[in-house]
Amino acid sequence: MGAFSNGLGQYQTAQSFSELLVAKIQCQAPRSILDLGVGTGMLTSAAYRRWNNAKFYGTDIDKDSIKKISAELPFVRLFHIDGLSPCLAEEMNLKIGSIDIAICNPPYYRMERSLDIRNLFRRAGLRRSVGLPRITSEVRFLAQNLHMLKDGGELGIILPDGVLSSHEYSLLRQDLLTDHEMIGAIQLPDNVFARTEARTHILLLRKNGSAREECPVFRAGLEGQIENRIDVPTNTLAYRMDYSYHSWRSHQKLSAKAVSLADLNVEIKRGRREKKRLEDACISYFHTTSFPENESTVVDLPTELLCDDTLAEAGDVLLARVGKRCIGKVAMVRSGRQVVTDCVYRIRSREYAKKIWRAFISDSGQEWLRAHSHGVCSRVISKADLLSFRIEV
Ligand SMILES: C[S@@+](CC[C@H](N)C(=O)[O-])C[C@H]1O[C@@H](n2cnc3c(N)ncnc32)[C@H](O)[C@@H]1O
Repeated sequence: MGAFSNGLGQYQTAQSFSELLVAKIQCQAPRSILDLGVGTGMLTSAAYRRWNNAKFYGTDIDKDSIKKISAELPFVRLFHIDGLSPCLAEEMNLKIGSIDIAICNPPYYRMERSLDIRNLFRRAGLRRSVGLPRITSEVRFLAQNLHMLKDGGELGIILPDGVLSSHEYSLLRQDLLTDHEMIGAIQLPDNVFARTEARTHILLLRKNGSAREECPVFRAGLEGQIENRIDVPTNTLAYRMDYSYHSWRSHQKLSAKAVSLADLNVEIKRGRREKKRLEDACISYFHTTSFPENESTVVDLPTELLCDDTLAEAGDVLLARVGKRCIGKVAMVRSGRQVVTDCVYRIRSREYAKKIWRAFISDSGQEWLRAHSHGVCSRVISKADLLSFRIEV
């Protein structure tokens, strides 16, 4: 994820989100402020406008950024070093656990699971997170910041949607909620920090703070203003921390008769093969692009030969699993038989198929799918979430 690279308007937007992050930090008179991956200095400049008496520290791995901002921001002690270095504190001549405020807009990329990760996570109060299925740069930046903060120090960090909403990161969310204090999460409008459809959030934490019963989640508007706030029980945040989900949850009125797809023993399978592999094998397929373009949610498939791929047949409900603009696409198969790609779920229930189909195409079903999908560029809906979808029987 990069800072704004094109256009004055975008730069202004970036500035307003930096101001928002800084404004939400509760500490009134910090002595030290750290910005790992300082880049163009957007966050640090916003922090300086609020606290010009603090000592500012910034690192960046990019020499040119450091060179450029050293003239523009003379008040920052700048270091051209890897912000993820295990010896960061020594290299910056700082004490571990001494920083009052950390602000961070980290890069997002996948990383190797290095040997020092266990130590870093342990020292950062993120013990369970060693079990995360994959390690990403933003999680390492989060850990490094927590490590550098003093007890009670605050962190404001911009994170991709998955960290707050996907099952993959639930161990990390449990760590944040049990070993630290979550002050709030702010969902930013889609696209504000990148050229893609990236959804990002500002996460506000206090290191080693004590858990509260409730925590606010906010939605920010395009100008960086807070548009809405919901106070949610802290114990619901391990499941999801994003505003979209909690907004949906606060509006839903489920009848006592509603039963989950898991309880109805509904079979949910995704296709086994990618579209490309099916194409290479000359197998005709139903993909996310095969859903009807018009309002129709019924499809007639060609009748293909039986094979051991996931085949959709009459009476099955098909649902888009992943894609940039695909979440919410649903269809009932009226006739025929065809292989589905790995981007499509086949939902099979002889008894409840019609009810499931109607529930997913209803306004509240569509809202449910939007609220339960997650991901940065491409949105995805998980099978575990689908199984928790409830219908009236
Ligand atoms: C998304 S940009 C954010 C820039 C800046 N904080 C802002 O808000 O405008 C991420 C920055 O992290 C820097 N970066 C990437 N990997 C780094 C690392 N390992 N150590 C330090 N900086 C890094 C990049 O050069 C880039 O400037």
